[in-house]
Amino acid sequence: MSGAQAQDPRDRGGPAQPLLIVDNLRKHFPVRGGLLNRQVATVQAVDDLSFSVRKGETLGIVGESGCGKSTTARLLMRLVAPDAGSVVFDGDAVAERGGITVNEMRRQMQMVFQDSYSSLNPRMTMAESIAYAPRMHGIGRKEAYDRAEGLLSQVGLNPRQYARRYPHELSGGQRQRVNIARALALEPRLVILDEAVAALDKSVEAQVLNLLADLKEHFNLTYLFISHDLNVVEYMSDRVLVMYLGRVVEIGPVEQIYRKPRHPYTRALFASKPTLDPDRRTTEMPLTGDPPNPINPPSGCRFRTRCAFAQSVCAEKLPVLAAPLDGDTDTDLPHLVACHVPEAQAAMGHAAMGVHHA
Ligand SMILES: Nc1ncnc2c1ncn2[C@@H]1O[C@H](COP(=O)(O)OP(=O)(O)O)[C@@H](O)[C@H]1O
Ligand SMILES: [Mg+2]
Repeated sequence: MSGAQAQDPRDRGGPAQPLLIVDNLRKHFPVRGGLLNRQVATVQAVDDLSFSVRKGETLGIVGESGCGKSTTARLLMRLVAPDAGSVVFDGDAVAERGGITVNEMRRQMQMVFQDSYSSLNPRMTMAESIAYAPRMHGIGRKEAYDRAEGLLSQVGLNPRQYARRYPHELSGGQRQRVNIARALALEPRLVILDEAVAALDKSVEAQVLNLLADLKEHFNLTYLFISHDLNVVEYMSDRVLVMYLGRVVEIGPVEQIYRKPRHPYTRALFASKPTLDPDRRTTEMPLTGDPPNPINPPSGCRFRTRCAFAQSVCAEKLPVLAAPLDGDTDTDLPHLVACHVPEAQAAMGHAAMGVHHA
């Protein structure tokens, strides 16, 4: 879905400089309990996560529920503070000093959540909701409302019909269109979509996905597209990042991740995906059961307790992201996998592989 993009005057580092560089981002939540409400455990929700997002691309993030996708999004927006790690936005570190502040970053990075209703103030009309952030940023009333009406048209809602309506007077799909308009009101460069279509009916979902693709083209946007739905991620993404228990297990161009997944977890995840195409059915055992808890995750490779290829090294050493042993390294969009076992990486199409439960 990337294409030739017009030059953005805010694009200071040029097209080759990533819009976002995330380095070793970490968030561990304390778990409290007992009479004294002491910390009794730690949820390793996001653990040393590193990736970058290129200008104009859509990076998909997939993984089972609880693997840390939303925490990643909230860390990037600084809705929660990271324990460690850094974020660089178009060459500027997000920091109190010497880079760009969180507020400056938030103007250029916006987020759309799954729940269309709770993100809208029930006492504000659609035009008021969309105009709110521009007004807060000092844009005059008339200009802010003109912008709101323009955005309503852009998201497919006639402003004459919808500008004065309240959230409860709209359908879920219409409300999500308004949330998208709101996210665009400060002219961001990066939009984080966290399960943004997950609550919609299939036909409405398709319309909103197409709208998102059109808006990306029109406004020169970059997307971080988070979803548990592998089909939707394949449709939307240029590259895909696969997360397991707070860590990246695999990242690469969408075709490579979907046609030649290297991590046993990625293959197992795809094997549990419903498909209508018999040529693409795998012989891999699907993932069943719950992933282990991010409280006390397994040592070494976190997937090893469900992996049919696990060896002793997998318990001892944390695997780092690297090109697969027989992979094509001659590319500027590398396919990287965090797995110790070469046979596990190359095993696509063999019947023997699978996932078992510890
Ligand atoms: N505020 C919080 N306090 C404690 N644990 C949290 C908090 N937010 C998320 N978690 C835990 O962090 C893990 C990752 O959650 P989340 O990022 O929401 O996953 P996903 O979006 O992939 O489903 C889960 O185990 C979740 O229970
Ligand atoms: Mg989530």
